[in-house]
Amino acid sequence: MKIIHVPDYETLSRKTAQLIAAQVLCKPDSLLGLATGSSPVGAYRYLAQWHISGDLDFSRACSVNLDEYCGLGADHVQSYHFFMRQNLFDAVNFRASWLPDGCAESLPDECRRYEAIIAERGPIDLQLLGIGHNGHIGFNEPAEQFVPQTHLAQLSQGTIQANARFFDSVDQVPKQAITMGIASILQAKKILLLAGVGKGEILRQALTGPVTPWIPASVLQLHPDVTVITTSSVC
Ligand code: GLP
Repeated sequence: MKIIHVPDYETLSRKTAQLIAAQVLCKPDSLLGLATGSSPVGAYRYLAQWHISGDLDFSRACSVNLDEYCGLGADHVQSYHFFMRQNLFDAVNFRASWLPDGCAESLPDECRRYEAIIAERGPIDLQLLGIGHNGHIGFNEPAEQFVPQTHLAQLSQGTIQANARFFDSVDQVPKQAITMGIASILQAKKILLLAGVGKGEILRQALTGPVTPWIPASVLQLHPDVTVITTSSVC
């Protein structure tokens, strides 16, 4: 595991964007695994700028996202579909991009459909991850067991509270989401984990403590090619 300490969010964003750009330049038909949340926003801004300036082309690359809230349509401003369009997709030119459909008629069928997309298009060349305050990756929440495949996740109270900052009130935060599972994440050839302000302690536990489904990010210790970019110096 490679840990890159950076002084601030700006450097974290630039470094992350550089690593994603390098992936696309070296392998133009890459499948990128993308994430939402505050952590990747700055990196997406760089990627958009580099595409607009003509320095980076995504026309042969595809993307799959980690997760989507249940019950929010693609045009809902808090949906991850909307987030990705606003922060990246509208500005760049991916050949194709997939996210789970949180409004599908049958959510179990949608989980199977999304899993099949990852299996057919995968493996993911580079998976970008953030980390939740409770150690979640995607919406793989702390639990008794790791769930390998795309599944319907019940969001923990802590995650609902943490994500309430994006909604008008905590009651509006969906209680469920569809998330890629731990096996799909671990099958990625490379993983890039971003941990900014306030994530130092959970990052330390995830990277230096036991591998346990109670801290889902701890499973990354088992992956052969993880790069962590962090503003924290605790590990
Ligand atoms: C959400 C997302 C995760 C993300 C996490 C951390 O719950 N489902 O994929 O990694 O938040 O977000 P942030 O980057 O805002 O700290």
